[in-house]
Amino acid sequence: MDDIIYLNNAATTWPKPGPVMQAVEESLRLPYYEEGRSSVPGQTDYLSLTRDALARFFRAGPPEHFVFTQNATDSLNVAIQGFVKRQDRPIHVVTTDLEHNSVLRPLRTLEAGKKISLTIVPSTDGRVSVDAIRQAVREETGMVVMTHGSNVLGTVQDIGSIGAFLKDRGIFFCVDAAQTAGQIPIDLSTVPVDALAFTGHKALFGLPGIGGLYLADPEQVDPIRQGGTGVNSKYPLQTPEMPMKFEVGTPNHPGIVSLLAGIRFVESVGIGEAARSTMATTRVLIDAIRSQPGILLYTKDPDLPVVLFNIEGMHCNTVSRILGRGYGVITRPGLHCAPLIHQRIPGGEESVRASLSYLNTEEECRKAAEYILEVAGSVDKKIEFA
Ligand SMILES: Cc1ncc(COP(=O)(O)O)c(C=O)c1O
Repeated sequence: MDDIIYLNNAATTWPKPGPVMQAVEESLRLPYYEEGRSSVPGQTDYLSLTRDALARFFRAGPPEHFVFTQNATDSLNVAIQGFVKRQDRPIHVVTTDLEHNSVLRPLRTLEAGKKISLTIVPSTDGRVSVDAIRQAVREETGMVVMTHGSNVLGTVQDIGSIGAFLKDRGIFFCVDAAQTAGQIPIDLSTVPVDALAFTGHKALFGLPGIGGLYLADPEQVDPIRQGGTGVNSKYPLQTPEMPMKFEVGTPNHPGIVSLLAGIRFVESVGIGEAARSTMATTRVLIDAIRSQPGILLYTKDPDLPVVLFNIEGMHCNTVSRILGRGYGVITRPGLHCAPLIHQRIPGGEESVRASLSYLNTEEECRKAAEYILEVAGSVDKKIEFA
C-alpha cells in the first residue's frame, strides 16, 4: 500500500501504528478476560487496564466512570437520550450549527417526540463563544451539547469557559470530542464537563467499533439499554453499578485492546508533540494549495488537521474520485455529516476534506498538493482519468 496517500483520518485513522496491530494480535491468542464470568491463567484484564489508561489520559476519575461504547455516535446517544430520559418534564437544550449528525439527529428525534425544545446557536468563523451560549440559555435549559472540534472547519471550541459558565448554572454539559480526543490535550481536571463522548478509531488510533463515554456523575443519566452484565444477575432491572449500568452484552474486546495500545502510542509520542507535528504537516499541504488558481480553500488556519477545499468548475465528488483513482490520494467529499455548517460556507456547501494524522508525512503532503493542483489545472482541458 506504499502508493496510497491516506488523507481521510478525520473519518478513521489509517494506518494504525504497529504496536496497536501487535497488541490486538497478541490479545487474540488467549480467551478474553470476563469480569465476574470466567478466568484463564495468564489472561490480562484489558478492560480495567484501558479504563485506568483513559482516567490517566483525560485526567478524570474514577476509572469506572469511563464506559465502553461502539463509537462517538453511540456515546452521544447514551448521554443525550439517557439524560433526557431521567427528566420528569420536557427540557430546553442548546446546541450549535457546527454539530455532526451524531448530535443533531438524537436531538431532533427528541424534539420531534416533544421531549425537548431545541435552540441551535450559530457559530462565528467556526467558533461558538461563551457569550453566544449565555444568550441562548434560558431558565428551563437543562443541557448544552456541543462539539469540541469541528470535523468540517477544524476549529476548536473553548469548552473550558463554556463549561465553567454552565457549571455555575447547573446545566448538564455534554461534549463531543470525536475529533479532539488523541489530537489535542483534554484535561478534565480543569475543564468541567458532565459527559465527554469520544471515539477510539480516530486520533486515538484504535480499531473502528470502539468508543467511550466519560460521565462525571453517572446518577444524572439513565441507561437506555438493558441486558446481561455478568454481575448482580439476580437483580431484575439494569444494575446501577458502574460501569455495568451502561455496558451490556459482550464487549468489543479487540477494540478495547486497540484503544489501550493507541493511548499508549499517543502517550509515547506525547500528545503535545503529536499535535504540533501533525499541524506542521497539515500546514505544508495548506501552504502549497493556498492562493493557487482554481483552488477554493476554506480552512486557512485550522486548529485541527483538516483541510477543506473545492476546485472551481468541478464537483467535489469528481475531485475526490480523481484524486483517489488517478493518484491514490484518499480524501472525502460531501457534507461530512455536518449539514448545518456547510450551508454557511460560501461555495463550500459540499467540499473535499483532506484530513491528516500524526503518521502522515510532509512528503505525502507535498505530493498530494501537486496532484490537487494538477487536477485543478485539468478542469478546462477535459483530461480523462481512469
Ligand atoms: C465531530 C464528530 N462527531 C461525531 C462523529 C462520529 O464519530 P463515530 O464515527 O466514532 O461515531 C464524528 C466522526 O465522523 C465527528 O467528526
